[in-house]
Amino acid sequence: MVRCSNNLVGILNFVVFLLSIPILAGGIWLSQKGSTECERFLDKPVIALGVFLMVVAIAGLIGSCCRVTWLLWTYLFVMFLLILVVFSITVFAFVVTNKGAGETVSGRGYKEYRLGDYSNWLQKRVNDGGNWNKIRSCLAESKVCSKLEAKLIDVPVNNFYNEHLTALQSGCCKPSDQCQFTYISATNWTKTAGTHPNPDCQIWDNAPEKLCFDCESCKAGLLDNVKSAWKKVAIVNIVFLVFLIIVYSVGCCALRNNKRDNGYGHTGYKP
Ligand SMILES: *[C@@H]1O[C@H](CO)[C@@H](O)[C@H](O)[C@H]1NC(C)=O
Repeated sequence: MVRCSNNLVGILNFVVFLLSIPILAGGIWLSQKGSTECERFLDKPVIALGVFLMVVAIAGLIGSCCRVTWLLWTYLFVMFLLILVVFSITVFAFVVTNKGAGETVSGRGYKEYRLGDYSNWLQKRVNDGGNWNKIRSCLAESKVCSKLEAKLIDVPVNNFYNEHLTALQSGCCKPSDQCQFTYISATNWTKTAGTHPNPDCQIWDNAPEKLCFDCESCKAGLLDNVKSAWKKVAIVNIVFLVFLIIVYSVGCCALRNNKRDNGYGHTGYKP
């Protein structure tokens, strides 16, 4: 039993150590290769996660194999915090991504997106001017709209209406259906005079660097992407959490073994 759980902690931590290598490599790759704002914004958290997992795994490995009790204590304490953090992030991700979905428009192949449908917390993040400027330049760099324009060149209006558009294409590259603008191309529309019920209609601009990038529909389209990404993160987190709890339990067992071997526990006990 003593050998078993100490070896198991060793093996599990070795697995975590191996896992941390591709995470770290991925983060470094992102920071070197990522030339656009969008690719860069994740590199630091990914590198931090990789380094953190690596340090924790090494502490667990040495603590269990070399029977270093204080190291194992520290390791279990950090693991406990990690379990709490991952659990909180998972619950938070589920709560935040609970609300919001694209709305079908009759006679259209695409959905339209309304900012008000998404959770207040997410709305605050995209309504922050500084955040939105970064995301906006990232959208422009990713050429999401110019690619759409190139793909749908010379497509007649009825075919355009039947197109399936992604949330970003629908929200950022074309005016809302409510505006009733006249179609020239996917990203070129003739504005109709008068007031519009939807404030996004006033914001629309045919200039390729403007389009609907400052519309609420564009922010909503982005949140739709964020929402599906977080759903995936939450599911991965649950698997990760189960793994962490198993490692933690086995680690607790190893700590008891260390104490026993060092003569703190039941003296004279031999398995
Ligand atoms: C939109 O179409 C009109 C009419 O064909 C054209 O004159 C104008 O240059 C186009 N605008 C953009 C931004 O492509």
